Amino acid sequence: MQKILVARPIFPDVIERLKQYFDVDWNQGEVLSAQELTRRLADKDGALTAGDPVGPAVLAAAPRLRVVSNMAVGYNNFDMAAFNAANVLGTNTPDVLNESTADFGWALMMAAARRIAESEHWLRAGQWRKWTYDGFLGTDLYGSTLGVLGMGRIGQALARRAKGFNMQVIYHNRSRVAPEIEAELNAQYVSKQDLLRRADHVVLVLPYTKENHHTIGAAELAQMKPTATLTNIARGGIVDDAALVEALRTGKIAAAGLDVFEGEPNLNPALLTVPNVVLTPHIASATEATRRAMANLAADNLIAALGKGPRAGRPPNPINPEVIGKARS
Ligand code: GLV
Repeated sequence: MQKILVARPIFPDVIERLKQYFDVDWNQGEVLSAQELTRRLADKDGALTAGDPVGPAVLAAAPRLRVVSNMAVGYNNFDMAAFNAANVLGTNTPDVLNESTADFGWALMMAAARRIAESEHWLRAGQWRKWTYDGFLGTDLYGSTLGVLGMGRIGQALARRAKGFNMQVIYHNRSRVAPEIEAELNAQYVSKQDLLRRADHVVLVLPYTKENHHTIGAAELAQMKPTATLTNIARGGIVDDAALVEALRTGKIAAAGLDVFEGEPNLNPALLTVPNVVLTPHIASATEATRRAMANLAADNLIAALGKGPRAGRPPNPINPEVIGKARS
């Protein structure tokens, strides 16, 4: 029987599905260190990860490994050059999380714009003595301009929701989306600079790549309106967190909502000292239904990639399909 590692605690019924096909080594404890991950992968044919870094050293130490299935749409934890060199397949879980993640982007953006977390902390701290007309004044979403940086599937789902808020949608992306999608979303393609200057609410929904490192830094924050909000539901490292702290402190922008951080789960401690930022622990796709769909899709990918199940040899979400059928190197 082929052996797999499931590197994270996931739904037990998904583990049961995997056990129909494989001998399963399931980590139900803490996140595995690089050393422990490497050790446990040494005799495995496949793995199910969720953000665990997999690079050349891990692959070299796991000569039987044919596939690593990431339970996430983003796969910046995979060194894809190393996967390609070793003929190891990587898979991810796109689409099933689009709507939950877009919902959450709105939740964070609204919380930042309307100072929900900040005022709630103040209330919990027992500081509410009387109602005042100027307490926690925020910025409107209705009728404002939404700037979406990264117009992929999640960006589009997010933009689709803007209609009910009567918002003007502007976006920037590596490439322009199809005219019919622009028309459906009523979205206008603009330069990154225009987006930063014009948007009342900027939301980041782009993948993390080397090129996107610190896409939003001090220079970009300086271009934004002092009344604007910035929401990051994409990846840590896209925003320069130290520069963001400074911009929030000095009023370069009004507020921010962050679900992802540089070096998470260890965040820049200065973020905890600024009131005008809403912080959540990377939970944008975390609904019961969506996490279940992601876990099942990650299992489907693993089962199919290892030649089992109804889609044997045809995993639904290959990242590097060119290695399928090639001998491991
Ligand atoms: C979560 O961050 C994902 O990439 O799915």
